[in-house]
Amino acid sequence: MRIGVPKETKTLEGRVALVPAAAGDLVKRGHEVWLEQGAGLKSGFQDEQYAQLGVRIAPDAAALYEKGEMIVKVKEPIAGDLQHLRRDHVLFCYLHLAAEPELTRRLLEIGLTSIAFETVELPNGDLPLLAPMSIIAGKIATQVGTTLLHMPQGGKGKLLGGLPSTDRGRVVVFGAGKAGGASAALAAAGGANVTVFEMRQDRMDEMMRLGANVTALYPYHDEVAREVAAADLVIGAVLVTGAKAPRVLTRDMLRGMQDGSVVVDISIDQGGCFETSRPTSLK
Ligand SMILES: NC(=O)c1ccc[n+]([C@@H]2O[C@H](COP(=O)([O-])OP(=O)(O)OC[C@H]3O[C@@H](n4cnc5c(N)ncnc54)[C@H](O)[C@@H]3O)[C@@H](O)[C@H]2O)c1
Repeated sequence: MRIGVPKETKTLEGRVALVPAAAGDLVKRGHEVWLEQGAGLKSGFQDEQYAQLGVRIAPDAAALYEKGEMIVKVKEPIAGDLQHLRRDHVLFCYLHLAAEPELTRRLLEIGLTSIAFETVELPNGDLPLLAPMSIIAGKIATQVGTTLLHMPQGGKGKLLGGLPSTDRGRVVVFGAGKAGGASAALAAAGGANVTVFEMRQDRMDEMMRLGANVTALYPYHDEVAREVAAADLVIGAVLVTGAKAPRVLTRDMLRGMQDGSVVVDISIDQGGCFETSRPTSLK
């Protein structure tokens, strides 16, 4: 098969879908692999590293999409990418279509075959292509939330780990999967008091094992409202595979939070799990 790896075009996206070693493996298995010139640069890979392993370099996006039968990329196609997609392409990338009706309509119009990374599922329900990114997103959510709690960033000036003579910070996490579990583990290791809302018993058990400063609760309305009103940092990381994210926080609950507290909605790619969330970028 001819496999094409384009340069990512979404704001601040620095990943590349195949590292040189992975692309080289596919070449060894008899596939023809094409890389758009410079596609690996932001991840620290030069074109020459790919070329040495038998990968061919396309000078621009038009040439890359022309050569490729299967297009392997990281993020969903946006305007510039869509113009290159054809009916006979197989598109393999993160798509998050539950939150993107317009993109879904465009892909249906083109009539190609699309396989979303985040819906590739093992027999036990694990999501092997989503999981690594979720762990990253979960850790970053705690890091970014911690930073936004600093006063110069508009936060309330709360140190999550506490100090002698001050309370520890309170972190609330929704969802104890790969992302939420990573957020909770990092917050707990930093000394915060962490409450995780989850519906699966096995995942609640895992959270309880993180340490004595972690509590796992079922998301009953009154308990959610009580914990969120007292929280310094709230992180949303729920998922129903392939579906729009369930709403776990209403506008009223958000309004009831203390000034300078922080919310981070990791589920934004599935439409967001807080009522007022909307996608944006840091640039
Ligand atoms: N923004 C990013 O860069 C990024 C990266 C990776 C993943 N994500 C997103 O993070 C979210 C979580 O992904 P994941 O891999 O951790 O999923 P996961 O399947 O591992 O975990 C999700 C958890 O949410 C729980 N859950 C579902 N509904 C719930 C509810 N109403 N209340 C409490 N818990 C509930 C599930 O039981 C499950 O344990 C997804 O929306 C995913 O797309 C975002």
